[in-house]
Amino acid sequence: MTNEQITYKNENYPYQSEDTDKRKTVILIRDVYKSFGDNHVLNGFHMKLHEGENLVVMGKSGSGKSVMIKCLVGLMSPDRGYIEVMGKEIANLDRQTLDELRSDIGFLFQGSALYDSMTVRQNLEFPMRRHKEKLGVVQDTTPLVLEALENVGLAHTMDLMPAELSGGMKRRIALARTLILKPKIILYDEPTSGLDPITSKEIIELMRSIQKKYGTSSLIITHDVDCARVISERMILLVDGINYAEGSYAELSASKDPKVEAFFKK
Ligand SMILES: Nc1ncnc2c1ncn2[C@@H]1O[C@H](COP(=O)(O)OP(=O)(O)O)[C@@H](O)[C@H]1O
Ligand SMILES: [Mg+2]
Repeated sequence: MTNEQITYKNENYPYQSEDTDKRKTVILIRDVYKSFGDNHVLNGFHMKLHEGENLVVMGKSGSGKSVMIKCLVGLMSPDRGYIEVMGKEIANLDRQTLDELRSDIGFLFQGSALYDSMTVRQNLEFPMRRHKEKLGVVQDTTPLVLEALENVGLAHTMDLMPAELSGGMKRRIALARTLILKPKIILYDEPTSGLDPITSKEIIELMRSIQKKYGTSSLIITHDVDCARVISERMILLVDGINYAEGSYAELSASKDPKVEAFFKK
């Protein structure tokens, strides 16, 4: 494997570079910039997620991964650049259309908290109430709640309170909560952070089984190399605010570029 086989940022790269993947593009980020005062976080970031793909974006802590994901779902506006999700340009959407679009996107955000005063069932019912128009009138929520919980192996926790669950279980419930709306895309922001290695593995396995079952497109933001190795079909390394390198785990981990190598050093 040589460095030539890895696509690097250059004048022509990236989105103009040849995209041999024939699957539909569900997320397109083109030349996005975002600064906070003198802190230039994103400096021309490009990204494409294909339908059914598992894409990992890896970057050091503070490199702008969460900022990128927030721009993607319209929680933050980029200073410049173009962002499209399922064919819709995020910047142009009115409140209602953005909300509808968001109901097709599942989030598992860093420390995505459950409501402590609600049971597991009530936590899962919450997004159903918020996105009524998507599900229509649901007379009995139990089958939907059960299906989502079964997907994460926690059907028996339906009537428990979050305080009665371990950290790993809470993360799985949070995942079940994103599944309840049957999202087409799932965005994972550091899904394994703060979990022990065994629990991390369980979460990664769940992410894989969910993707298989529903054919979801997944964008996984992480700095966990093991997570990236197991789950990624393709990886993008976010360095200095750009998509510095792009390729499979095998390609990138064999790279001799110092900035790329730095990610894989144990
Ligand atoms: N709302 C904000 N206001 C000011 N600075 C921010 C804001 N959000 C993020 N930043 C800064 O942007 C940089 C990238 O943050 P973030 O995307 O959270 O990093 P990470 O890659 O760890 O997710 C950091 O320097 C952070 O301090
Ligand atoms: Mg982050």
